[in-house]
Amino acid sequence: QLDQGIRPLSFADYIGQDQVKKNLQVFIQAAKLREESLDHVLLYGPPGLGKTTLATIIAHEMGVNIRTTSGPAIDRPGDLAAILTTLEPGDVLFIDEIHRLNRSVEEVLYPAMEDFCLDIVIGKGTEAKSMRLDLPPFTLVGATTRAGMLSAPLRDRFGVLSRLEYYSLEELASIVIRSSKLLSLEMKEQAALEIARRSRATPRIANRLLRRVRDFAQVSDSGTAVGYEATEKALEQLQVDPLGLDPNDVRLLSMIVQKFKGGPVGLETMAAMVGEESETIEDVYEPYLLQIGFLQRTPRGRLVTPLAYEHFNFDKGDV
Ligand code: ADE
Repeated sequence: QLDQGIRPLSFADYIGQDQVKKNLQVFIQAAKLREESLDHVLLYGPPGLGKTTLATIIAHEMGVNIRTTSGPAIDRPGDLAAILTTLEPGDVLFIDEIHRLNRSVEEVLYPAMEDFCLDIVIGKGTEAKSMRLDLPPFTLVGATTRAGMLSAPLRDRFGVLSRLEYYSLEELASIVIRSSKLLSLEMKEQAALEIARRSRATPRIANRLLRRVRDFAQVSDSGTAVGYEATEKALEQLQVDPLGLDPNDVRLLSMIVQKFKGGPVGLETMAAMVGEESETIEDVYEPYLLQIGFLQRTPRGRLVTPLAYEHFNFDKGDV
C-alpha cells in the first residue's frame, strides 16, 4: 500500500471523524475491560476517507493482529473458511468492499459472526454429514461505500455501524502537515491549505497531491521546502482545479450540459457517456459533486446546477 509509512497507527494520530473515533474508543476500552473481542464493526462512506486506516487502528488499539482481504477476493466459501480457521483469538478480520461478497460466502459468515462457528458439510447426497466447527472469537471489520448495498442479514450482524464523513479544510490541512513531516518535507502552512482546498474533502487525495507536489519540488531548486507558489503551480500542472475537480469531473459535467442541456439525465446514461461503471459514478464521482452542489439528484435523473454553470462558465443559452 502506497500510504504505508504515513498512515496513522493510533487514534492519537488520526485526525478528524471525531464522533466515530470517540465511540470506537469507548467500545474498544469496554471490550478490553471485559477481556472480550470487540463487536463487529461496519465502516461506510465515500472512498478515501480512512476506512482501511481505521480498521488498522482498531486492531492496533485492541492489541491484536489484522488480516486484510476484500469481498471480490473471496471466491468460494472454502476461501473464507481457510481465513477464519487460522485467526487467533481476538484478531481483526478486515473485509474491504464487503458488499461484493457473493451469496454462498456470505452464508458462511453469518454463523461465524454470530456464534463464532463454521457449519461445514462433509460428503455428498445421503452420506452427507453436517459438522459444526468452533472458531476463535474475532472481530469482523467490514468496509463499504454505502451501507445500503449490504444485504439486510449481513448488515444486521454488525454491532457497530459507523459512517465516515467528508473532512473539513482544517482537518485536511493538518493531515497534509502531518504527512509532509513524515515525508521529510518542509511544508508552508498556506501551501498545505491549498492542497487541502483541492482535495475534495478526502485525505487519500490530499496525500496523493502532496506526493506529486513533492515530486515537482524535488526536481526544482526549492528542494524539500515547499511554498505556496510552487504548490499552486504543481497543482495546475496536475490539472486539479481550485475546487479539486479533475478533468474527469469536468468531462462528466460538460457532457451533461452539452448533450442533455444540463439534465435531468439517468445514471446509466451518465455511465455510458464517460465509459465508467454506474457504481463508479455513484460512489466516486457523484458524492463530492453533490456535496459541493454542482449536481442535483431528482426523481427524473441528475441535474447540473446553476452553481456549476457559473464555476465553469458553461453558457446556458449556448447549449
Ligand atoms: N492520513 C490519512 N488519513 C488520515 C487521518 N484521518 N488522520 C491522519 N492522517 C491521515
